[in-house]
Amino acid sequence: MKVFEQLLFENKAWASERVAEDPNYFHRLVDIQKPKFLWIGCSDSRVPPNEITQTQPGEIFIHRNVANLVLHTDLNLLSVLQYAVEVLEIEHIIVCGHYGCGGVKAAMTNKSYGLINKWLRNIKDVYRYHQQEIEELPEGDARVNKLIELNIMEQVYNLAKTSIIQKAWQKRNGPHLHGWVYALDDGVIKPLVDLEPNGELDHPIYKYDNLLDEG
Ligand code: CO
Repeated sequence: MKVFEQLLFENKAWASERVAEDPNYFHRLVDIQKPKFLWIGCSDSRVPPNEITQTQPGEIFIHRNVANLVLHTDLNLLSVLQYAVEVLEIEHIIVCGHYGCGGVKAAMTNKSYGLINKWLRNIKDVYRYHQQEIEELPEGDARVNKLIELNIMEQVYNLAKTSIIQKAWQKRNGPHLHGWVYALDDGVIKPLVDLEPNGELDHPIYKYDNLLDEG
């Protein structure tokens, strides 16, 4: 059996196990998708959202990219965000990064990696904003881990800066925003930041006050 065929084989086994446990398992999922959570995570294969939170299909709406970035020019992320917030009326958005993130590590070097330089540039900006705080720490893992945490928090604030989130906050007092970091070595998630609806942004210049007038 070829490697990829193993996946199809395992899928069949998984599907029949689900039905054996609960004959209605798939019927319930076909008709309705009403997840409470949007997960914005790293593409890293070691951080699978459903597995590490013991959630089932239908419970988490998921977007993943390298180093869990929230960029206002990323049409893919913005489309997921708009759909999650306006149509699914998601209650919680979780930005979950992880220690040992290769994207963050790469951004801390002066090495060129080709096309992905443009993506990692955004993490270099986070480094620049918090340079002093990072460089107070000893070189090596301590600095990498610090930038990983700061990058997650920056992305939570990037969410809060979107008109999608600010409009929802004004309309329905939701969703809540969370920044979490996952540890590869023990599998535990540590919460870093929570932003309540209509909470303080990291700078007031990012706040829009006429979003509801726009319709
Ligand atoms: Co990563």
